[in-house]
Amino acid sequence: MSRRVVISRPGGYHRLEFESFSVPEPGSGEVLIEVRAIGVNYADIAVRMGLYESAREFVGWPITPGFEVSGIVSQVGREVSGLRVGDKVFGVTLFGGYTSHIVLPQHQVVSFSDNLSFESVSGYPAVFLTADFAVEYLAHPRSGDLVLVHSAAGGVGGALIQLLKHLGCRVVGVVGASHKVEVARSFGTDRVVDKSVEPLWESLEEIGPDGFDVIFDANGVATLAESYCHLRAPGKLVVYGFHTMMPRTGGRANYLKLALPYLRTPRFNPFRMTYENRSVLAFNLSTLFERKDLLEEAMVRLQGGLGSGQLVPLPVTVYPFEEVARAHRDIESAQTVGKLVLVL
Ligand SMILES: NC(=O)c1ccc[n+]([C@@H]2O[C@H](COP(=O)([O-])OP(=O)(O)OC[C@H]3O[C@@H](n4cnc5c(N)ncnc54)[C@H](OP(=O)(O)O)[C@@H]3O)[C@@H](O)[C@H]2O)c1
Repeated sequence: MSRRVVISRPGGYHRLEFESFSVPEPGSGEVLIEVRAIGVNYADIAVRMGLYESAREFVGWPITPGFEVSGIVSQVGREVSGLRVGDKVFGVTLFGGYTSHIVLPQHQVVSFSDNLSFESVSGYPAVFLTADFAVEYLAHPRSGDLVLVHSAAGGVGGALIQLLKHLGCRVVGVVGASHKVEVARSFGTDRVVDKSVEPLWESLEEIGPDGFDVIFDANGVATLAESYCHLRAPGKLVVYGFHTMMPRTGGRANYLKLALPYLRTPRFNPFRMTYENRSVLAFNLSTLFERKDLLEEAMVRLQGGLGSGQLVPLPVTVYPFEEVARAHRDIESAQTVGKLVLVL
């Protein structure tokens, strides 16, 4: 039986409903995947709440959330090369991933070897694509650079740390709770700052008195202004999320509570940036789906990194597909580490 999660309109966890659907045939250049596991991303809760702009723009309501799956190729369309029925694959999708069957264009799908599990690989592509884009396309840190990663025990944080360590960077990770310290260390972080028990910026000033060469920040309003101030010229601040304006419980967006942090989020001044020799870079992976060339290249890098063992999927916490609401509640709580995945 084929089934998927569907959200008919924005709201809390109860909006995550299941429906059955007819499995489509793959068209030319496409494959059909029988899904075994699905990666959950923080952005999925923003989609559910109706706060994710590209979901509104590209899909609207109703919507099936989900950016990544792993599974088995069960049908291959015309003009597909290199993928065969029975291959174990992972794939990325611009929404629609919370499903038992999905048709994807070939360039969004790559195969992986038998020694890896569907669970761990399902949580691999979205965070590593994000980190790959932030590091390879935008920031270009150099060996020896002092780099700061906020939310270092999470999905994108863990992927960033792996890529940065391969480049020879000295990586400082910030975590928001003590149970995350060891996890951030296990990802390869050289120094971990636990902002729940120590003064964040004082500790960071001790570690990097001259500032950081690159800072990756998805916190938004809570840290963006200070992150910018703690860059060493010519430094780069990479902005890719705004999660500190989001609720940690309850599952619903309160627009009044969102308004104040939205207004307080810094607007960077180009005169000041030029004078101070500091850059602010920002991106949204949704737009990568419009750049087949870049996405294809990045998927090949991800496949190579996984195959050679240079990149390692993050540890996962597994939820049955039917318990998708629990997974959403947990990732929203800001207490999770690594990746959350749904298994079918
Ligand atoms: N721009 C893009 O294309 C793109 C792509 C993927 C992900 N993202 C963004 O990257 C971030 C990480 O995504 P992920 O899926 O890997 O999630 P994650 O890091 O596994 O989980 C989110 C982490 O953010 C912190 N957090 C969450 N809610 C918070 C709140 N209300 N207040 C304070 N801190 C909070 C918590 O870490 P700490 O408390 O330890 O900081 C939490 O563990 C998200 O903001 C996501 O939207 C952006």
